[in-house]
Amino acid sequence: MKNILITGGAGFIGSHTAVELTVAGYGVVIADNLSNSDTTSLEGIEKITGRKILFYKADCCDKKQMQKIFGENKIDGAIHFAAFKAVGESVQKPLMYYYNNLTSFTTLLEVMAESGGGNVVFSSSATVYGQADVLPVTEETPRKTAASPYGNTKQVCEDILQDAVRAHSDLQGIILRYFNPIGAHPSALIGESPRGIPNNLVPFITQTAAGIRRELQIFGNDYNTPDGTALRDYIDIMDLAAAHVSALKRMTDHQSAGTCEVFNVGTGNPLSVMELVVKFQEVNKVNLKYSITGRREGDVEAIWADTSLANKVLGWKARRSIEETLANAWAWEKKLRRII
Ligand code: NAD
Ligand code: WQD
Repeated sequence: MKNILITGGAGFIGSHTAVELTVAGYGVVIADNLSNSDTTSLEGIEKITGRKILFYKADCCDKKQMQKIFGENKIDGAIHFAAFKAVGESVQKPLMYYYNNLTSFTTLLEVMAESGGGNVVFSSSATVYGQADVLPVTEETPRKTAASPYGNTKQVCEDILQDAVRAHSDLQGIILRYFNPIGAHPSALIGESPRGIPNNLVPFITQTAAGIRRELQIFGNDYNTPDGTALRDYIDIMDLAAAHVSALKRMTDHQSAGTCEVFNVGTGNPLSVMELVVKFQEVNKVNLKYSITGRREGDVEAIWADTSLANKVLGWKARRSIEETLANAWAWEKKLRRII
């Protein structure tokens, strides 16, 4: 059995990926310092999979702690989720973001290089494209100057991985550029639970529907889009999790050591904020209070993925419908808030 280290595995994307990896027959080791999560997600993973998860409460910036994990386990590959991810906070606290996001990744790569190499998947983001001139974006679309320190950490980490695999021939990498991950595991045992006021659209919607937020503000209806609200590519969290399994298989089966490939992970279908709000209400039969306000600083007008490379090379495709995804997001929020 191949063992995969999941850094940040107690978080939103990491926990769902841990489920998919376990189901696919991988052994999973999670390292997380719980700075933006807690152990309930680990209990959820264990309930869903019926398997015990090996968990280290560890900071990936701490080389000794990472060496301990590699010393105690045979790790064949790693998926690096551990990072801070709030765009606005990164503008307020750039040094904290640069330190955590860059140091955690370089430390992981250093320890892997010292332990005989392996396969690395890095969590990147569509944010690296900024507002692209041509849509949908392919992996060849040029990256734009980052609009935030957070976005910059994604660009720099992509470059770090490219350089690291060139220098260490026993390392190989895949960079996955996620579009907008949403939803929850269909069991409602794991999902997204942001701390404080959510920045992202879907958790804000579910919390508003649950009565925790008074109303949703739709940031701008004067964009140059069919209904004036911004367009995004919303990808189901379980589809996204499955892309990581495909990426690991790709590295094991086909890719040559010393290389690093890049893939967009989205659906390829743009959806407007208003369309999503309407669908959420229809699918879940709830009324959502919302108002239109001004644009949010730093937001792009429209972005969605060309996913043909991932479809062809990884053999991966987004399968879940937006209806299914929004139903799962609401089921998770209801369970969390004990709404019958
Ligand atoms: P999350 O905050 O839910 O998960 C990240 C996890 O990493 C948390 O459990 C946190 O406690 C942990 N962590 C942070 N710093 C750490 C450190 N130094 N050592 C150990 N653990 C640490 O976020 P998520 O939504 O699951 O995102 C996972 C990754 O995907 C991040 O790298 C994020 O930037 C990237 N990403 C997320 C999105 C999104 O919209 N959610 C989109 C694109 C890319
Ligand atoms: C989606 C749309 C908002 C909240 C962010 C990061 C990106 C990536 C994913 C990590 C936008 C609108 C939102 C609200 C709204 N994360 N909106 N009211 O901004 O596309 O991407 O998360 O890498 O880097 O920037 O996602 O969910 O915040 O917003 O109208 O209360 O919903 O303006 O058009 P975004 P989002």
